[in-house]
Amino acid sequence: MAFPAAFIDELIARNPIEDVVGQYVNLRRAGSNMFGLCPFHGEKTASFSVAPDKGMYYCFGCHKGGGVINFQMEIEGLSYPDAVRALAKRVGMEVPEDEQYQSRYKAQERLWALHKEAARFYHSKLYAPEGQEALKYATGRGMPKSTLTTFGIGYAPDTWSSLVDAMRKKGYTDDELKDSGLVTVSKKNGALFDRFRDRLMFPIIDVRGNVIGFGGRIMNNKDPNAAKYLNSPETLIFNKRKNLFALNLAKKSKLGYLILVEGYMDAIALHQYGFDCAVASLGTALTEDGAALLSKYTDQVVLIYDGDNAGQKAAQRAIPILEKAGLQVKVLQMRDAKDPDEYLKKFGADKFKLLLEESSNRVEYQLNAIRRKYDIREDEQKVKYILEAAELICSLGSAVQREIYGHRVAESAKISYEAMKLEIDKAFKRRISREKKKQEQINLAPAKNLQPKARSIRYDNMKSAMAEETVLALIVKEPALLDQAKELNEKEFSSPLLGKVFAQLAERYCQGLEVSVGVLTDLTSEEMSHLAGILQRQDGPVNETALCDCIRTIRAEHQVSHVSSDDDLLALRNKLKERKGLKV
Ligand code: CTP
Ligand code: MN
Repeated sequence: MAFPAAFIDELIARNPIEDVVGQYVNLRRAGSNMFGLCPFHGEKTASFSVAPDKGMYYCFGCHKGGGVINFQMEIEGLSYPDAVRALAKRVGMEVPEDEQYQSRYKAQERLWALHKEAARFYHSKLYAPEGQEALKYATGRGMPKSTLTTFGIGYAPDTWSSLVDAMRKKGYTDDELKDSGLVTVSKKNGALFDRFRDRLMFPIIDVRGNVIGFGGRIMNNKDPNAAKYLNSPETLIFNKRKNLFALNLAKKSKLGYLILVEGYMDAIALHQYGFDCAVASLGTALTEDGAALLSKYTDQVVLIYDGDNAGQKAAQRAIPILEKAGLQVKVLQMRDAKDPDEYLKKFGADKFKLLLEESSNRVEYQLNAIRRKYDIREDEQKVKYILEAAELICSLGSAVQREIYGHRVAESAKISYEAMKLEIDKAFKRRISREKKKQEQINLAPAKNLQPKARSIRYDNMKSAMAEETVLALIVKEPALLDQAKELNEKEFSSPLLGKVFAQLAERYCQGLEVSVGVLTDLTSEEMSHLAGILQRQDGPVNETALCDCIRTIRAEHQVSHVSSDDDLLALRNKLKERKGLKV
């Protein structure tokens, strides 16, 4: 996104990182850095650091990092231009017009408006003569008019182009209709057709209240091959991994927790019965983005997935994703009904409330899941049950928890607590030794440890990359060193990312601009985090000799990897050895 460099520099200068971060995190100074609890993952000890002099933040726990703009993007879930706008607003700066950005933003606004019109159109059709059957279906499934209104439920008529026609009349162009995902394009003649036909329509609304897509449910089985639910495709405004159904309503709930279910109908039924904190994922498994979004509004999630096998598996997968986002997880085990929608309609809200109250924490849930795997009337299976349960219990952080669950398993398996405790201790020792081995491997292979986590920025030449990292760290600290590193060329870097950053910093130095990584704009958030990590790690004193050594290493490694024949390689090796004063 092309904002003028000078504008970005001023924006960053007027938004000191410690001030911006300080709005979200309690920072305490320790030396030249400041520390606090990371806002991006749940933690109890402060591993989140801010370096005011470098204009960077970095978390040693989750390895997120970057400059003040990256922070604004991460913490508010904003795009780059939106983060820039927010920071500009914060200090009363005017954002320069930018055509590319403006046009993208305008396109988004048009799509939001189009979706709002489409939602109105579908909703009105529910009460039109052609929507009679659909209204009957919705009512038959227990949705009163108030629910239909709250959720904006609608009906997509059984015609080829009534939506297309209505939207054209409202002034939307065919290109806009194509970009909206609400139409399909005929391969034969390019004509536009409604994507959703003869379906009950569920608008998907983001937390800012924009309609961004639809889910459409089939209501009869005329076509056995038709999918039960059809969802909007990914568009400029719709990403099913980053949004959750009904969160726009649930975020206002006073209940203090959020309920995560599988289906639109489940979420709607829960709201209708008073559990206005329910959300559903959008026809996909819960993602890290989804969990991060939830964690903005609550720290406790109750998972209710369908009682069938697929639902239970999905719940097991969702637990660690939610916990990683810092959320406390409880799991409600569906009984006597296949999903919450069915349960509420069969037994009512009060019974469901009881179920909710006795919903177990994830440890109980996982112990139950292990318990169900074995027939403990048979000795051999009972032993397996105890061993697997001991593995789970020994992984719990608190001694109190280990004792409580140890007792519970001992009781269920009808063995003494002492015997159970012995197994837990043994499992604990096995675990420690496994972890020790893992740590030893890491210690023995430091290179592997320093390898960037993201595949796209992997180092091909670790030796050179380490030198390249040091060069960057040194020049950020002392830009004047660039006078000595001038002859070093971007192409000599083994890591394209580090080379690119070096070239950009050198260019900024020549132009008299600030030499800092946080001001660079065309880096992905992964790249930015990686660079922030480097600058935190390489925090030694500035040393000219170190710079010269690094430059020498980078050049030597570059030559070795760019010689054409084995003979050349041999000659070069010998030359290098000679230089080091070794005998050939
Ligand atoms: N889903 C989907 N595509 C399908 C089937 C399901 O995207 N072909 C998603 C929908 O988001 C749906 C959820 O998975 O809400 C759960 O599916 P399912 O349990 O089959 O439907 P219910 O929500 O129970 O819907 P209903 O009660 O109307 O049958
Ligand atoms: Mn259902």
